[in-house]
Amino acid sequence: MEGSSFSWSSRRLGGFKLENEYLNFLLTRRSIRKFKPDPISKEVILKILDVARYAPSARNAQPWIFIVITDEKVKNELASVHSWASPLKNAPLGIVIACNKDLSPHSYQVDCANVTMYVMLAAHALGLGSVWLQTLRNVSEIQKILNLPENYVPVSMLAIGYPDEKPTPRPRKNLNEITFKDRFNEPFI
Ligand SMILES: Cc1cc2nc3c(=O)[nH]c(=O)nc-3n(C[C@H](O)[C@H](O)[C@H](O)COP(=O)(O)O)c2cc1C
Repeated sequence: MEGSSFSWSSRRLGGFKLENEYLNFLLTRRSIRKFKPDPISKEVILKILDVARYAPSARNAQPWIFIVITDEKVKNELASVHSWASPLKNAPLGIVIACNKDLSPHSYQVDCANVTMYVMLAAHALGLGSVWLQTLRNVSEIQKILNLPENYVPVSMLAIGYPDEKPTPRPRKNLNEITFKDRFNEPFI
C-alpha cells in the first residue's frame, strides 16, 4: 500500500492546470473528525444540498431525503448509536441521508451512496470538512431517533463542520493490485 498516491498522480497528470485543479480537489478531501465550533449558516447548508441533489441515481429516481441535524439532543443520540459515530458530538452539523427503498428497491443503497459523496464534495468545495458515519448496522435505532418510516433506510450520516485538524492521507492500495485488463487478475499495469 502506498502512503499517498497524491504526488504520483500529480506527476502523471501534469500538464493541464485546470484539470489538475479538479483532480487535486478530489485528492485533497479527507475524512474530518474534529471541527471548529463555528456554526454553518442555513444558506451554506442549502447550497450544499442544492448541488448534491444533482447526483446520479438509477432511473433518475432520486430516492433520497436529507435530514439536517442541528438539535444537540438529536445529534448526541445519533453520535451514541455506535462508538465510531462520536465525531457527530463535536460537529456543528449532521446530515442523515435516508433512502425510500420502495422508490428504488434494487439501487437505493448505491443511489444514496452517490448523493452522500456529492454532499461531501460540495462541503469540501465550500471549505467544510465531513466524515461519513456508518448507519447500516443501526438502521432501526436511527429510524426511531428520527421518526423515519420503515421504508426510509438511513444509508449514511455525516458529521460536518469547519475542519480543526489536517489529517495526512490514509493509505491506498497500489493501482496495480486493483486494476485488470479484460479479465480478472490479468495485469493492466
Ligand atoms: C460506508 C462508510 C462508512 C464509514 N463509517 C465510518 C464511521 O462510522 N466512523 C468514522 O469515523 N469513519 C467512517 N468512515 C470513514 C472512513 O474511515 C474513511 O473514509 C477512510 O478511512 C478513508 O479515509 P479518507 O476519507 O480520509 O480518505 C466511513 C466511510 C464509509 C465510506
